[in-house]
Amino acid sequence: GTGKFFVGGNWKANGNKESVKKLVQELNDAKLEEDVDVVVSPPYIYLDSVLNTLTKRIEVSAQNSWVGKGGAFTGEISAEQLKDLGVQWVILGHSERRHIIGEANEFIGKKAAYALENGLKVIACIGELLEEREAGKTTEVCFTQLKAFADAVPSWKDVVIAYEPVWAIGTGKVATPQQAQDVHSEIRKWLAENVSAEASSQTRIIYGGSVNAANSAELAKQEDIDGFLVGGASLKGPDFATIVNSVT
Ligand code: G3H
Repeated sequence: GTGKFFVGGNWKANGNKESVKKLVQELNDAKLEEDVDVVVSPPYIYLDSVLNTLTKRIEVSAQNSWVGKGGAFTGEISAEQLKDLGVQWVILGHSERRHIIGEANEFIGKKAAYALENGLKVIACIGELLEEREAGKTTEVCFTQLKAFADAVPSWKDVVIAYEPVWAIGTGKVATPQQAQDVHSEIRKWLAENVSAEASSQTRIIYGGSVNAANSAELAKQEDIDGFLVGGASLKGPDFATIVNSVT
């Protein structure tokens, strides 16, 4: 792997005050390996309470941010506001926002640039649909999504790339370690050829899609898998801790 192992928990639009409180308690009690960056991403409305109650060992991410300066954008949250709250990270380009909400590559790239400019670190998500994989277009799709980030961001220093094949998200159908490794290594090559040797060797590439406490160790052994973005299994503190501790 490259750099420090990174495990993010994306809570998506799950939970309520009571379950969030319980999850924070479980995370505060968990024994986490030291050499891992650990980040959780609660829904916006719980960010403040999580920031105030969660151990500082774990950093906090938003699941989205507005594309530019805050203002008359009903229902949106700006990068400045996230920064003001003490949020350190933001997930951008998640497939649920691409495919359900309809966010486009260029828009996502702009969000990333604006978030970085305002001091947030970015978890930049890419990944192909099942039909795209079956049509042999996996790398083409991933590279197009990557290019939109690359065209927009001035530096990859504060960016983690999350490769999440859409067919593996929330389906229980995890990519095999080899399938994930193959795409991760293509992404690393793309960075070397299109950004810089440094971006290629320093940027962490994490895998997401049905990662759980039982399959994370095998995936973590792959050379180019630098961590995980976990959805469902991040809602259970002990399972999430097991995934964090699958660092090799
Ligand atoms: O951001 C996380 C991914 O969408 C993975 O979700 O672990 O529930 O498949 P999942």
